[in-house]
Amino acid sequence: MEPVSPADLTRTVLDRHANVPDVRLKEIITSLIAHLHAFATEVRLTEQEWAAGIRFLTEAGHITDANRQEFILLSDTLGLSMLVDVINHDAGEGSTESTVLGPFWVADAAWRENGAVIGRPDDGEPLHVFGQVLDLGRTPIAGAVVDVWQASGRGLYDVQDPQQPVGNLRGRFRTDAAGRYDFWTVRPLAYAIPDDGPVGKMLAALGRHPWRAAHIHFKVSAEGCRSVTSHVFDAEGGYLDSDTVFGVKPSLVRTTSVVAGAPPAPFTGDEHRSIEYDFVLVPK
Ligand code: BEZ
Ligand code: FE
Repeated sequence: MEPVSPADLTRTVLDRHANVPDVRLKEIITSLIAHLHAFATEVRLTEQEWAAGIRFLTEAGHITDANRQEFILLSDTLGLSMLVDVINHDAGEGSTESTVLGPFWVADAAWRENGAVIGRPDDGEPLHVFGQVLDLGRTPIAGAVVDVWQASGRGLYDVQDPQQPVGNLRGRFRTDAAGRYDFWTVRPLAYAIPDDGPVGKMLAALGRHPWRAAHIHFKVSAEGCRSVTSHVFDAEGGYLDSDTVFGVKPSLVRTTSVVAGAPPAPFTGDEHRSIEYDFVLVPK
């Protein structure tokens, strides 16, 4: 008898899935097996390398808990999260492009009044962020929800940092009758994703850095429209070309302006930075 070849084995495994009852599950599992086998065959994966891969995934499982999701971090840093985003969000017709949600969004963040201050002087330089939520015809959408969150100047979100009050640098705003939202925060800085686990070791082994380009997160929703999960990136914050999760899309980058005029307390000074940023939503 002829010895079993890699191609024979792949065929046998695929054949075993010929009768998967759910059509979509069958499509996904057979494609996954075919690609996984093709990968191992192409690189001629050794037994030691296979074992190292299993150890890596085991470590990722062990470090994952309610507050730490190493598998999403793995998906993010391998560009899979952004690939899924790009496949599923075709932002045509001038609508706002989406990007990764990330692990630090919190459901039911506090409601804030337009014009509210959501950060502290300790968190960084004051930044006024305002704009409108619009439909594709650029008609303002009243009552849209603008959910905002960002890291402090120390590179940490409130949920990661015992030195920040709960809800610091996050909140939900509702647009007024003219579709406007408006808040005061701090200028975002580049920060490193959690790199003390297996994904951090992987990035180091690959000669990659863990830095995300400076950004503010947004999730914008309105009745009758598709909600958009996105960021605004600071054009001067660095790492735009090497964001470690591949999240930067050119349409999401803005330059802050320096504006004369004191920011509201507790910030001080006689000038501040601002970003005017409109969101354009598509109908459902
Ligand atoms: C974030 O921007 O919050 C983020 C996104 C992906 C991985 C880690 C952090
Ligand atoms: Fe972030």
